[in-house]
Amino acid sequence: MKLEGRIALVTGGGSGIGRAIAHLFADEGALVVVNDVRLEAAEKTVKEMRDPGRGRALQADVADSGQVRTMFVALEREFGALDVLVNNAGVATTSGEDREAIAKRAETRIMETLGGQGVETHLDVTQHLSDEAWRRMLAVHLDGTFFCTREALRLMSRRNRGAIVNISSVAALMGLETVPHYSAAKGAILSFTRAVAREVASRGIRVNAICPGFIDTPMTQPMPPLLRAAALARTPLGRNGEPREVAATALFLASDDGSFFTGQWLSPNGGLFTG
Ligand SMILES: NC(=O)c1ccc[n+]([C@@H]2O[C@H](COP(=O)([O-])OP(=O)(O)OC[C@H]3O[C@@H](n4cnc5c(N)ncnc54)[C@H](O)[C@@H]3O)[C@@H](O)[C@H]2O)c1
Repeated sequence: MKLEGRIALVTGGGSGIGRAIAHLFADEGALVVVNDVRLEAAEKTVKEMRDPGRGRALQADVADSGQVRTMFVALEREFGALDVLVNNAGVATTSGEDREAIAKRAETRIMETLGGQGVETHLDVTQHLSDEAWRRMLAVHLDGTFFCTREALRLMSRRNRGAIVNISSVAALMGLETVPHYSAAKGAILSFTRAVAREVASRGIRVNAICPGFIDTPMTQPMPPLLRAAALARTPLGRNGEPREVAATALFLASDDGSFFTGQWLSPNGGLFTG
């Protein structure tokens, strides 16, 4: 067992990739605090563990530093320490965005490209992005990663050991044209990962990131068929990834198997990005 006796916190653990990470970590012997903004989703993840005694659900919106602080107070009271933090909570879209219209334009562009007549339909995402959509996207991903990392480092610094895994995205490496705010947030998470990794290495704390490609989760379910096909066409392995494949990467980075990795990113992406 690769995480025997370790205490782990997985944010956004109520669904998709976070749920798979929480389950794998528990199977590998960790006690897993499953955070989600939706309490019932976090509780369901715990209930569905092979041994639900290895899990504990805690609700908090990671974009709210007060809620994050309260969650860590509860975690410390109950477990006394933290060995592993996975900053996974995320959203692909925020309220008030017309994702359907953007998807439709993206599909029209694909048809125009295939037709060979030149592209006349423009995505025009950034020029219509509201302050609120921009801020909420950065708040959930970037603020959330910072707030949880800050609290985790206070606990990890007491014992001078720990591992932090930040879930970024291929959006950080390539830029995804339909989600500029998401791409910006994920890119900032990578820079934050590198800086904090250098900062806390002397304390024996490792910080790494994962940049998944397209993974089948509730987040990618609403992708229209043509966009899905276009993503598959650009993925040499010819399929989307599964949450368990990202979870295996997280386990590697969080456990002693990844003991010489810090400030790095790994990208389970089926060959979509090879840089
Ligand atoms: N699915 C993909 O293709 C893909 C690719 C690259 C990166 N990612 C990233 O992986 C992570 C997980 O995505 P997923 O595909 O499993 O999505 P998902 O929608 O299945 O799960 C995300 C979970 O995060 C929770 N959440 C959202 N906002 C939160 C907040 N403010 N506080 C706490 N919890 C919150 C949601 O309730 C949900 O349970 C995200 O950071 C996402 O950006 C996903």
